[in-house]
Amino acid sequence: MNDKRVTFVSKIGIVAAAAGSAVGLGNIWRFPSQTADGGGALFILVYLGCILFFGIPLMVSEFMIGRAARANTAGAFHKLAPGTPWKWVGRLGVLTGFVILGFYMVVCGWTLDYFFQSLSGSLHRVTDFSENFNNLLYSPLRQIGWMILFTLLTAFFILSGVKKGIEQSSKIMMPLLFLLLIILAVRSVLLEGSAQGLNFLFKPDLAQVKPTLFLDAMGQAFFSLSIGMGCMITYGSYFNNNTHFLKTAVHVSLLDTLVAILAGVIIFPSAFALTTNPGTVVDELVAGGPGLLFITLPGLFNQMPASMVWATLFFCLLSLAALTSTISLMEVVTVYIHEEYRISRRKSTLLVTAAVVMLGTISSISAPFFQLLDIASAKIMLPIGGLFISLFVGWYLDKGMVYAELTNEGTLQFSTGFLKTYIFLLRYVAPVAMLAIFIYGLAG
Ligand code: PHE
Repeated sequence: MNDKRVTFVSKIGIVAAAAGSAVGLGNIWRFPSQTADGGGALFILVYLGCILFFGIPLMVSEFMIGRAARANTAGAFHKLAPGTPWKWVGRLGVLTGFVILGFYMVVCGWTLDYFFQSLSGSLHRVTDFSENFNNLLYSPLRQIGWMILFTLLTAFFILSGVKKGIEQSSKIMMPLLFLLLIILAVRSVLLEGSAQGLNFLFKPDLAQVKPTLFLDAMGQAFFSLSIGMGCMITYGSYFNNNTHFLKTAVHVSLLDTLVAILAGVIIFPSAFALTTNPGTVVDELVAGGPGLLFITLPGLFNQMPASMVWATLFFCLLSLAALTSTISLMEVVTVYIHEEYRISRRKSTLLVTAAVVMLGTISSISAPFFQLLDIASAKIMLPIGGLFISLFVGWYLDKGMVYAELTNEGTLQFSTGFLKTYIFLLRYVAPVAMLAIFIYGLAG
């Protein structure tokens, strides 16, 4: 079984594939709306702390579990801790992936819809962008159609094979998307009246603290880095024996965070600059919630020459970024069914596709259901998964094995102090902090 598993070959391919999973709608759609909701700069500060103290160590841990076991998320726990209840952590992860797909695919559908609106030129003629977005929200059939199309597209890549599908698409699209985001960020900052937006983004306002701030930021960090559900376990299972876990995790997290911040620098300055009611812009941002990206950005494009070209390019690249994330999510669920229930890869893919379409249909029709899936996955399931993954590597796994994995059997040099700090973080700091944030957040 082990020999048959494909491994990612090139180093850049490894980072690109993991980054392809991490960078997606979480960065460009969810991060700005969470930041707006969380009061701006303060949210970002807490978010960065979560990436550093929980995100990177947890990503390394997931890589480790995956490569050590060379199995799917649930199978990995089964293999490393046979006959123990740890397998439930893997199963929870698979379920989380499914729940995320259930609302994420709907947003992927919006992205496709906007891509075609840009391509056909109809977006260019719109004068009221909130109304334009609401029209989409109130057309279930249109949403469901795009959502199904996106799910089928994802399934196609899953079926076309791990290496070809995931690695290649990530390598081409990531640099392009990055370049475009930089151009848009510059354009947005140069708008007259953008300074207030930058202030909102970078100047913390302590009056904005709410009890759920920490949980919201932690949930967003997990969601954005694709950790806490074993997605990176599945990816780790494809890594080769020389993959440098720590470096890969740091690179992926840096890239992911940069893209999120760039998205913020695009959205907020333009939201402040282009509003017709400066007094209520923060309220509008918060109320804009899930629509923020789809309402503010078209306004920015209209400020640019050849707006249609920019809009088309942007929504095309955003769809691709979302696709590399949905591929990783669907891969987790599909491989689980394929390997644990011994159903062929093709049949597992079809099964998962049908189930995701069902969940996605309900989310398209019901906004509360959409929100429920979003909150349940990001604020409850991922943090619980993260907590147990950190306990698993910190307490359950043999320390010698953890060191051997981290150093690639001693070929990489880390100081003993560093290794000890890593274990200490996983054993005590991360679990206690995550638990405290979780309980405090849910109570608040
Ligand atoms: N990280 C992805 C994004 O930011 C979403 C995702 C979450 C993907 C969990 C895989 C696992 O869009």
